[in-house]
Amino acid sequence: MTVRIGDIAPNFKVDTTQGEIDFHDWIGDKWVFFFSHPADFTPVCTTEMGRTAQLAKEFASRDTQPLGLSTDGVEEHKGWIKDVDATQNTSLEFPIVADVDRKVAQAYGMIHPGESKTAAVRSVFIIDPDKKIRLTLTYPMNVGRNFDEILRVIDALQFSDKYGVATPADWKKGDRVIIPPGVSNEDAIKKFPQGFEEVRPYLRFTEIK
Ligand code: BEZ
Repeated sequence: MTVRIGDIAPNFKVDTTQGEIDFHDWIGDKWVFFFSHPADFTPVCTTEMGRTAQLAKEFASRDTQPLGLSTDGVEEHKGWIKDVDATQNTSLEFPIVADVDRKVAQAYGMIHPGESKTAAVRSVFIIDPDKKIRLTLTYPMNVGRNFDEILRVIDALQFSDKYGVATPADWKKGDRVIIPPGVSNEDAIKKFPQGFEEVRPYLRFTEIK
């Protein structure tokens, strides 16, 4: 199955390192960084799990809960978490889904049979409090994810929602934002009294402090 931006995230009940969860109940009113990895006790995955744990405060400040997944079981996950903590100098506190029967991975299209018939690739889903998929990313098994980008895109989504704007290439918090083409200049003046720069009729920038 393909999960696309704008879809409601498929719900599931599954065992995790922190007990059984109903995904939609677990989301509650938070954002979610849901990510899969191929297998426990593997090097790239160990660094990614460690990085996610190290960034706990960054995710929390964005009202975002991480949720990992691999097709290994709870006992393997728990043993591996000890290794992640020891080798990455952290304390992993977020749950990891034990998707032994691969039901969740199949529902989210995390298994790419050309790569592996049984293990998940490195999928990322950013899900909002309405349970809507807001971003998907897929990395191959041998390339670790860029966590600066994951935090940046959560910032961009939350900022865009709050102010009704779009964000330009490489946008970071504090940079100018784009007034969407659907907003007329007349409405833009009311919405952004600080003013805006019209580079082209379709390319207008404003600053939001
Ligand atoms: C890793 O996490 O290092 C890894 C896992 C599966 C395939 C390749 C690399």
